[in-house]
Amino acid sequence: MKGKFITFEGSEGCGKSTQSRMLYEYLKKKSARVVYLREPGATKVSEKIRDILLDAGNDRMSAECEMLLYMAARSQIVGEIIRPKLKKGVIVICDRFLDSTIAYQGYGLGMDIDFIKQVGKFATFGIKPDLTIFLDLPVGKGLIHRNGRKDRIEKRSLAYHFRVRKGYLSLAGKEPGRIKVIKVEEDKYKTQEKIRDLVKRYAV
Ligand code: TMP
Repeated sequence: MKGKFITFEGSEGCGKSTQSRMLYEYLKKKSARVVYLREPGATKVSEKIRDILLDAGNDRMSAECEMLLYMAARSQIVGEIIRPKLKKGVIVICDRFLDSTIAYQGYGLGMDIDFIKQVGKFATFGIKPDLTIFLDLPVGKGLIHRNGRKDRIEKRSLAYHFRVRKGYLSLAGKEPGRIKVIKVEEDKYKTQEKIRDLVKRYAV
């Protein structure tokens, strides 16, 4: 692949979307060949799947159905956008990717992680990020920002969200070359500075 694939990960309310968009705007000013995507979403099919996944009314969805829907949305976005863009040498920034499923459905819900990785390989056609930025923020702090109407995943217990964060940190420990942990600062520009330094060093 000629392009570079950069993903953002993090728990609820960590500022991931703001930070990934800020990086996109910065890179766009330097080079026009960059796209910004969110997961699940970004394609017509994946946005529809996102609605099903996050609808708090779907409270009877099984863990298996949930995991496969995240993978289905991912497979569509990889086939329709990510793979073609990377082949053309474009920088792809994606807000969440396979690590989210390992953290939320694997560590969070207790599904078999090796099986998730196997399904993930099929769904992503084996495409892996060149750099993954994990924005780390203590669980309580992040969820406080979400005191309005919560979606199906945000509504889960504090214990669940603790497991997700622990899962991310454990993933980062296993793949330190790819997954970089950045502590979220009060000042969003300071966090962004750290992200740009990383991207300059590892991905562009
Ligand atoms: P967002 O809040 O970053 O837009 O992501 C949507 C929600 O979906 C968020 O609560 C995390 C969750 N999620 C999973 O549980 N598994 C996944 O594979 C992905 C991509 C997201």
